[in-house]
Parts: sequence; structure tokens; C-alpha cells
Amino acid sequence: MKTLIALLALCATPAFAAPFDKGDAKAGKALLDKQCSACHAARFNGDANKIYTRANRRVKSAASLAQMITTCNANLGNTLFPEDELNIGAHLNGAFYKFK
Ligand code: HEC
Repeated sequence: MKTLIALLALCATPAFAAPFDKGDAKAGKALLDKQCSACHAARFNGDANKIYTRANRRVKSAASLAQMITTCNANLGNTLFPEDELNIGAHLNGAFYKFK
């Protein structure tokens, strides 16, 4: 019975307490500034952050944010490691998207 209760408690807990909370947002921001922002800025009159804050932004969930980072990483020739993507996700979610 105890095991059953423990199992039920586990199932009730979301798989990710907070999305990207294992990422290092500071490292993520440094990478983003270095590798990603120039291309975004070129599309939004020099303001790289507008792509994340525009009214019709594409990313609507933590999962789609992770997906978009992976897609854009392909633009760069897949130079990022999964850990880098997690760090960038931590920064973007903390600064712009705020998914819980
Ligand atoms: C070669 C250009 C280019 C590079 C380099 C690039 N991106 Fe993008 N990114 C885009 C374009 C274009 C879009 C918009 C796609 C759309 O609206 O359909 C975009 C959109 C995004 C979005 C979604 C914004 C929204 O609408 O919510 C995220 C997140 C993102 N990029 C992350 C990154 C990250 C992280 C990197 C660096 C690893 C990166 N991008 C590098 C071109 C680029």
C-alpha cells in the first residue's frame, strides 16, 4: 500500500518542476549574444530581443521553446551541445517567455 501511495505521488508531480531550471541562464545569455542574436537582430531593426517579445511570436510552450532552440541551432550547423541548449532555454525562459 505504501508503495502504491508513493507511486501515485510521483505521478502527480510534473516531470519538470520548472522548465529549464537545471540550465545556467548566465552561460546561456553569453552564448545567445555570441551565436544567435546577430541573425535575429538583422530581422528586427537591430533589436534581437524583439523576436521573443513580438505579438505573434511562435513559441507558445516550454516544449516549443526547446524545439525552436534546436531548430535554430541547425541554422548554425549544430554547434551547440544539449547542455548549451538547456542553458539558452534557461535564459530565454527567465527573461522572456516565463513558462512554468
Ligand atoms: C541564420 C539566422 C538565425 C540564427 C543564427 C538563429 N536564429 Fe533563431 N530565428 C531565426 C528566424 C528567422 C526566426 C523566426 C522564425 C519564424 O518566425 O518563423 C527565429 C526564431 C527563433 C526563436 C522563436 C522566437 C519566437 O517567435 O518566439 C527562438 C527561441 C530562437 N530563434 C532561438 C535561437 C537561438 C537560441 C539561436 C542560437 C543558437 C538562434 N535562434 C540562431 C533565425 C536565426
